[in-house]
Amino acid sequence: MKSTNIVRQDYKITRNDRLKLLGQKPVLIWLTGLSGSGKSTIADKLEQELYFKGFKTYLLDGDNIRHGLNKNIDFTEEGRKENIRRIGEVAKLFMDAGIIVITAFISPFKEDRDQVRNLIAEGEFIEVHVDCPLGVCEQRDVKGLYAKARKGEIPNFTGISSPFEAPEAAEITVKTAEDSLDDCVNQILDYSLKRIKP
Ligand code: ADX
Repeated sequence: MKSTNIVRQDYKITRNDRLKLLGQKPVLIWLTGLSGSGKSTIADKLEQELYFKGFKTYLLDGDNIRHGLNKNIDFTEEGRKENIRRIGEVAKLFMDAGIIVITAFISPFKEDRDQVRNLIAEGEFIEVHVDCPLGVCEQRDVKGLYAKARKGEIPNFTGISSPFEAPEAAEITVKTAEDSLDDCVNQILDYSLKRIKP
């Protein structure tokens, strides 16, 4: 059911006030890619780099958020749509608070990612395609999920029984099967720092 009879409330302390206090401009660094492509590893290193440079960050990770806020959501197309919609809204709130947000979700559908892009101010959404061939992700199979999916034990598994729509115009593409972790992270840092510094 939809909420009705709601009116937006304005408050004295604005987003700009908070940004001034924090000394940074928020961006949303949106990592998208197959399970096992390296999203969480990149997000982890990227957040450390930003943290040690003195920036205030927050990391939203698919597996973690699905233990809490989104634990009532499945992996059907509808479920993923709602998963990504909520993450977009949460990220927007963090950004309103002045925080740099990094997200690590498969987010396989272009339409869902574009919906988040449209929610965020121009230039503040940085889509990063964490590009890694399915065969490599499957060989890594860190969580053993590809093996299960191949046996038919996990329905709608991305890359196996559910599609991954690769971004066509991502701000950044990193190739984790070819380049080192540091190279991938530096590529994202170089691009993002220009937008983060006040
Ligand atoms: S998303 O598609 O809705 O963006 P999300 O990033 O939140 O996915 O969660 C992906 C993680 O959930 C994977 O890394 C994997 O560990 C786990 N998972 C469980 N079932 C599936 C599935 N059917 N497809 C993909 N990942 C799954």
